[in-house]
Amino acid sequence: MKILIVGGGGREHALAWRLAKSPSVKSIIASPGNPGIEHLATCIVAPGDVSGYADIAEAHQADLTVVGPEAPLVAGIVDEFRRRGLKIIGPTQAAARLEGSKIFAKEFSRRAGIPTAHTSTRLDDFSYPVVIKADGLAAGKGVVIAQDRPEAEAAIQRLGPKVIIEEFLEGEEVSFIGLCNGSAVVPFLPTQDHKRAFDSDQGPNTGGMGAYLDPRILTASQTSEIMERIMLPAIRQMSAEETPFTGFLYAGLMMTADGPKVLEFNVRLGDPETQAIMHSFQGDLGKLLYETASGCAPQQLSTAARPAVCVVLAAQGYPDKPRTGDLISGIAEAEATGAVVFQAGTKRNGDQLVTAGGRVLGVTAGGETLQIAISNAYRAVEKIHFDGMHFRRDIGAKGLRRW
Ligand code: AMP
Ligand code: GLY
Repeated sequence: MKILIVGGGGREHALAWRLAKSPSVKSIIASPGNPGIEHLATCIVAPGDVSGYADIAEAHQADLTVVGPEAPLVAGIVDEFRRRGLKIIGPTQAAARLEGSKIFAKEFSRRAGIPTAHTSTRLDDFSYPVVIKADGLAAGKGVVIAQDRPEAEAAIQRLGPKVIIEEFLEGEEVSFIGLCNGSAVVPFLPTQDHKRAFDSDQGPNTGGMGAYLDPRILTASQTSEIMERIMLPAIRQMSAEETPFTGFLYAGLMMTADGPKVLEFNVRLGDPETQAIMHSFQGDLGKLLYETASGCAPQQLSTAARPAVCVVLAAQGYPDKPRTGDLISGIAEAEATGAVVFQAGTKRNGDQLVTAGGRVLGVTAGGETLQIAISNAYRAVEKIHFDGMHFRRDIGAKGLRRW
């Protein structure tokens, strides 16, 4: 099979890496790809719109297209591919509203009876802290946790006019991702992201500073509760509304004292969760995705996987104003330790590799235990250098504290 991957970040590098190991996959193309993906795939400059991706799939006779980021999904890439008879894994534009509009997602959750934070249009209905969210896609920057009324009013001013005001939920956050064919859903192992920039969850929100996968993040009964109360109702409601959900459904959950509640839905794989998931994934990913895109019920995934940890190395100034152009060294040395270095914000400059974005690399390693996976990842991190590089030193530490 020939696979086209749409996107060019760390998530797409991890997908390319796992797909390249799939017995069913002969070759990979990526658009736009990145310097890391170039070792695994033919990279093609991104076209301006979704029909351009369909042109690439047609010209290269791709058997299946896998979409990484949300923007092309929200823009209708799946509808365009299906119109042209091209196989693709992802949700239609109508189904992608689950991520594209937080207001849609809230109303949808209410219709489906899915547990989520209470919302209201009146600040007076809440105690503090309170959460203010912008409606549309905001790359992690559209959420403010306001400690008092002046802060809440300022956030509404800044994010408005379309905002959601919701109660602040307490608990452990879990990223729960399922693969769907429209009527069935099969979960990947649970992961935890680390959204804040600095250790101990301090500093501004980011796209994600690291993630770990460990089967113990959820007990078997928590997993079935999430399936019964969130994932299956979501899939059934999507079908009932004649927008069946196909592709990756990502529920960002808060495990509260009252059970799991949805913080957000995404209609794609998480970044950097995917780096950890692909690292520990067992089986033929290409075949699984091809069959699911063809409408077959996704096969149950292996659950005996080892823990995996992805530490994001960020550029000077990230998340506010990342500096670019810093020379990167040590990737080969890091990989010689057994880790895998997924590239995200990198660019080739002659023979050199330089930083080209906020989240530059995702250093990923597995281990028999979470502690070993963490040590393996950080041992590899030590080999890498670029000026201004910063990263969290506590990726996975939450898991260690709990078990
Ligand atoms: P979102 O983009 O909705 O996932 O929000 C980004 C981050 O803000 C989440 O990962 C949470 O850490 C935090 N957050 C969002 N909504 C809430 C909420 N209702 N209560 C507590 N934290 C929240
Ligand atoms: N890591 C969070 C996300 O992909 O939305």
